[in-house]
This record gives sequence, C-alpha cells and structure tokens, in this order.
Amino acid sequence: MFFKTLAVAALAGVAAAKPCSTKPTAASASPTRQWETAYTATAASDVAAAKATAKTNSPTSHVKGKVFDRYVSIWFENTNFEKAKADPNFNFFAQQGILLDHFFGVTHPSEPNYIASVAGDYFGMNNDDFWRGDFNVSTVFDLLDHKKISWSLYQEDMPFSGFEGKAWVNQKNGANDYVRKHNPAVIFDKVAHYEDKLAQIKNLSLTDPAHSQFHADLAADKLPQWMFITPNMTSDAHDTDVTTAGSWLRTFLGPLLSDPKFMQNTLVLITFDENEVYADRNQIFSVLLGDAVPAELHGTTDSHYYNHYSELATVQANWDLPTLGRWDVGANVYSYVAAKTGSQVRAWASEAEFNGHYWNASYAGVFYDGGKGNTEYPAPNLELDGFRGRPILEEVKKTWKDSKNPTYYTGALELPDGMNPPKGYAPIKA
Ligand SMILES: *[C@@H]1O[C@H](CO)[C@@H](O)[C@H](O)[C@H]1NC(C)=O
Ligand SMILES: *[C@@H]1O[C@H](CO)[C@@H](O)[C@H](O)[C@H]1NC(C)=O
Ligand SMILES: *[C@@H]1O[C@H](CO)[C@@H](O)[C@H](O)[C@H]1NC(C)=O
Ligand SMILES: *[C@@H]1O[C@H](CO)[C@@H](O)[C@H](O)[C@H]1NC(C)=O
Repeated sequence: MFFKTLAVAALAGVAAAKPCSTKPTAASASPTRQWETAYTATAASDVAAAKATAKTNSPTSHVKGKVFDRYVSIWFENTNFEKAKADPNFNFFAQQGILLDHFFGVTHPSEPNYIASVAGDYFGMNNDDFWRGDFNVSTVFDLLDHKKISWSLYQEDMPFSGFEGKAWVNQKNGANDYVRKHNPAVIFDKVAHYEDKLAQIKNLSLTDPAHSQFHADLAADKLPQWMFITPNMTSDAHDTDVTTAGSWLRTFLGPLLSDPKFMQNTLVLITFDENEVYADRNQIFSVLLGDAVPAELHGTTDSHYYNHYSELATVQANWDLPTLGRWDVGANVYSYVAAKTGSQVRAWASEAEFNGHYWNASYAGVFYDGGKGNTEYPAPNLELDGFRGRPILEEVKKTWKDSKNPTYYTGALELPDGMNPPKGYAPIKA
C-alpha cells in the first residue's frame, strides 16, 4: 500500500510506523530500525534529539561520463517562462549557457513534478501531501548506485541529514522553510529504508554556512557526481517572487561558476517545477550551463521538446545507465548531449496534438486525491528492455516480471496529461 495517513501523525510529532507491505531484503537494511519513519517527527525537541545522532554521508566517485562528469539540478518554483526570462539574474545565467525554450512541467502542483524527475512518473499525484512511494518503485538513485555514481541532495534549511518530516519552519519567525514535497528522494521508501542513503539527503544554508553540509562538502572536495539542490520556500520563489529567486541563484551559483571544486566537467540544470498560471501551458524556464557546456554554445537556445523526464534520460545517456522502464525511456536527451551519446532527439508526430497538451492537471493514479483514480501502480513496460539500445535495470525486471498490473509506457516521446489521460487512468467521477 501507499501511505498518506502518516501525515497526521507526523505533524503531531509522532514517528508513526505503518508496515510496508513489500518486504525489503537488501543486506544493508537495518535489522533494528524502520528508517522510513525514524525521522518524521517535527516538534523542535524531537528534531534536536534526532539531529544529535543522525548520520551524514558524503560519498564521492569519479565515473567518467560521455559528456559530463557531474550533474547538478537546481529547482525553483511556480513561475511562467516569460517571467523568468525577463529576470536579469536568470537571464545572466542563460547567457552563460543554453536556454531550453520548449521545456514543460509534467503537471501541477509541485510534488508530482519533483517525484517525476527521479521516478519516471508521478503516479497520478495531484496534490502536495505526505506520501511514501512503495519499496518496489525504483528511482534514479538505484540507477546511479548500480554504476557506483555518487549522489546527494542539498535542501536549504533542512534541519539535519535524513529528516523525513513534512516541513520545518524558520525557528525565529515561523515562516515556511524546508518542505518534504520538494525533496524527491526522501519520499521513496527505496531510499528512506536505508540509513546510509538517508544520510545523503543533506542541507544547505546561506545564512549559516558554517553549518551547511553543501559548503562543508564543497570545501572538503567531497561533492558527489549527481546532486539535486532545493532552495527554501523563500529562496525558490514559492512564497516570494522571481526576483528573490534570481538573486538567490546569483549569490549561490555565481561564485561556483569559477570554483574548481564545483566545476569538474559539470553540467548544471537550472529549472522550475511548474509554471504559475494553471490555465496556460505548463512551460518553464530552463538553462544548461557549467564547464561541460562548450563555450560556442553559450548564449544559444535549444528549442527541442523537453520535460522533467529528460533529466533522467540525459543522465542515463551520459553514463550509459539502464532505464526505469517508464516515461524516462521515451524522453528526449538534451540535444548537445544527445549529439555525443548517439541519442536521437525526436519531435512530436503532430504539432496540433502537441499544442493541445497543457500538462496542467494530473491523470489519476495511486496518489490521486480521495482514491478517485486507478489505485494500481502501472508496471514498468518490460518490453522496452533494449529500446533504443538501453536495457531496463535488472532489479526492475526482477521485481515486476510477474506483475499483472497494466502499463502505459510505450517509449514514445508524446506524454499524456490530465486532459489527455492514459487509458484507465482518467479521474473517477463521483
Ligand atoms: C508493489 O507494491 C504495491 C503496493 O504494495 C503493490 O500493489 C504492487 O502489486 C507491488 N508490485 C510488485 C510488482 O511487487
Ligand atoms: C545541517 O545538517 C547538519 C548535519 O545533520 C547539522 O549538524 C547542521 O546543524 C544543519 N545545519 C543547519 C543550519 O541546520
Ligand atoms: C531562506 O534562505 C534565505 C537565504 O538563502 C534566508 O535569508 C531565509 O531566512 C531562509 N528562510 C526563510 C523562512 O526565509
Ligand atoms: C488547463 O488549461 C485549460 C486551457 O486553458 C483549461 O481549460 C483548464 O481549466 C486548465 N486546467 C486546470 C486544472 O487549471
């Protein structure tokens, strides 16, 4: 089963444990603690106690990529493409790299976009609730671990490494600060089940750099090869505006552009989870930059169709990773990377169909509000094993080989949305 009831307990500061129906068997699983729910308590005293013993991990590796050796994505919130493009700071970064001007969010609101970027689907989520993805759902973290490529998340103002609570507010003024819904790793049991993996979900602080894990890892030359960076609810424009977000990015990323401890054949993706106006198409501002982007491409625009699954496809192409057998399989690889990895960048078969997709509402699956959707996870499509030269992760095949669940992934570029849902996944009317 999937878990939503936990939210209430977590808010009350109780580390409620609901047994997971799929039994993890991996050797590193702790026999003594259920790590998935060890750190959900949010009361200040519980957080202080947990922080005293929670582990922090900073693995590193040097697995050569075909185009880049390090991948960093930095996510902002709820801004229309044109608005971000007009911001002087976001525009400053666009001038240092490649502007992607046909990049779309996959739905609304936030959380489904975040989980999509690591799991290859949002499983019909149409809300920002406290969820746990089942242990049998694999993510990019399994793909990276498979090739021993180090990864970490850096979440601004997360109180300690591996915190699993729904939110953590600014302790001085009570303002929104860190939120679980913007942390795509902690939501999946396949990550949260392991203390060592939880310990790779760390913090970042611009106000207290002496206690910022990002800055500690940077100084110690212990940044990983794959990282996901989430500014807090003020810095990412969620509770503020694009000007605040742009100025945060200038402060944070500006100095890193010339820091050899950060720039090590590094590709940085600056992106947004979704646009702001739901009636518009969900187009978001995205830029690729870093020392892995050739100088002659600085200030250029790439107009191919991309979405949050392109983030998976690009990392897979670069490091020759297997796939998850979901929407990642058909997604476009960023064209300058594709040119060097032999990936084909495709266009929608029909321009009219493309324009008819808004990606502004969710099709209805296991995480849809009120159980009004299909309550089965779609199975990865195991027939996509080897599709366009890329195998599916062995573990995914093993887990799902006997599954009778339907699948809707076809390897096509064309991506459904709530107005054009996959068959069997339309919202159930009351
Ligand atoms: C994955 O877990 C869910 C929830 O427990 C279950 O419905 C589904 O059948 C499982 N699938 C496989 C292949 O184990
Ligand atoms: C960041 O996380 C570390 C490790 O858990 C913790 O010691 C530190 O106090 C945290 N920093 C802030 C500013 O909360
Ligand atoms: C968010 O981060 C900024 C600095 O990046 C800081 O000024 C602010 O206090 C943090 N938290 C809140 C709730 O604003
Ligand atoms: C999505 O956009 C269409 C076209 O503007 C609009 O009719 C529809 O109401 C929007 N859906 C949501 C959930 O806002």
